[in-house]
Amino acid sequence: MNKTFSTVLGTGGFLPQKVVTNADLAKTVDTSDEWIVARTGIRRRHVAAPGETTCDLAEQAAAAAISAAGITASDLDLIIVATTTADYVFPSTACVLQERIGAGPCPAFDVQAVCAGFIYALDTADKHIRTGAARCVLVVGAETFSRIIDWSDRATCVLFGDGAGAMVLGAGGEPGIMSTHLYADGKYKELLWVPSGVSTNYQAVTGARAYTQMQGPEVFKVAVQRLGDAAVHALGANGLSAADVDWLVPHQANLRIINATTRRLGLADDKVVLTIADHGNTSAASIPLAFDVAVRDGRIRRGHRVLVEGFGGGFAWGSALLVY
Ligand code: ACO
Repeated sequence: MNKTFSTVLGTGGFLPQKVVTNADLAKTVDTSDEWIVARTGIRRRHVAAPGETTCDLAEQAAAAAISAAGITASDLDLIIVATTTADYVFPSTACVLQERIGAGPCPAFDVQAVCAGFIYALDTADKHIRTGAARCVLVVGAETFSRIIDWSDRATCVLFGDGAGAMVLGAGGEPGIMSTHLYADGKYKELLWVPSGVSTNYQAVTGARAYTQMQGPEVFKVAVQRLGDAAVHALGANGLSAADVDWLVPHQANLRIINATTRRLGLADDKVVLTIADHGNTSAASIPLAFDVAVRDGRIRRGHRVLVEGFGGGFAWGSALLVY
């Protein structure tokens, strides 16, 4: 029997209009453009307008991906949104998005794996397609991380931004997605988290809102190790080496983390798609946003082999290798 694989039919991305530069942040917290660029590679980030929600960003990215794929929303038979910053406790952002774009009644659900969310969503979509459960899937990574940032905390506010990226996957006779690898280790949960939620009732207990808290240097060390491992596993599982990869599209958290992975793989710097300077860390949106940028500017072309990898709170992390 012929095997079914997932292929990327189209990509899309969307960034909110407002840009916040490092110089802007230096007016409100004790930081500098020099420090932020040297430690992270970030120069500016986009921030959603008041009232602009994760689903608003997702809708724009989804529309661009659907158009690029040459399909209509009614062709979709599954929608997955990776987000940490859903519009509502419920319904899921995916359900809200489904109604907005006029899709359905296909299944729609959210995936929460923070900055690894898009890899988790891609893996889930791929498994639906490979098993025949779906033939046309919209996968979105979308965040308004600015809403869970304490803008007076210089350790975190300089790192994050808002945005959305999307991919439409279709069923095909050849990969497409060659492999996905997912990992998580909950023992690290307190190194990077927002220590509140519906069930913990944090605000009622403490009288304060909780924001993203991070032990940056510890996160950095584990991220470098685990992302490198995930990339090596992806290549090894396919019997490939870094020389067989046309592009690495990493999660855009910190340029120094990306450089460490690139060095470990022995990959040339000009094979790495970087958007961190202009986007900052957009969590689940960062990988599909960067992928879309490189597709639209002509770097990623049909037939190119692309390695994607993500790491974030949980910790949760993973990689995927695909032929565009
Ligand atoms: N501006 C100026 N100085 C600062 C700033 C700032 N914005 N932030 C911290 N500092 C100071 C610190 O107070 C410290 O000062 P001290 O030496 O007087 O104590 C000094 O700079 C060094 O601080 P470190 O935290 O050791 O700096 P480091 O080189 O580790 O860089 C950073 C910090 C950029 C956060 C880095 O640790 C990092 O990128 N960590 C990983 C983040 C990450 O990858 N997250 C991924 C997942 S994101 C997700 O899942 C949501």
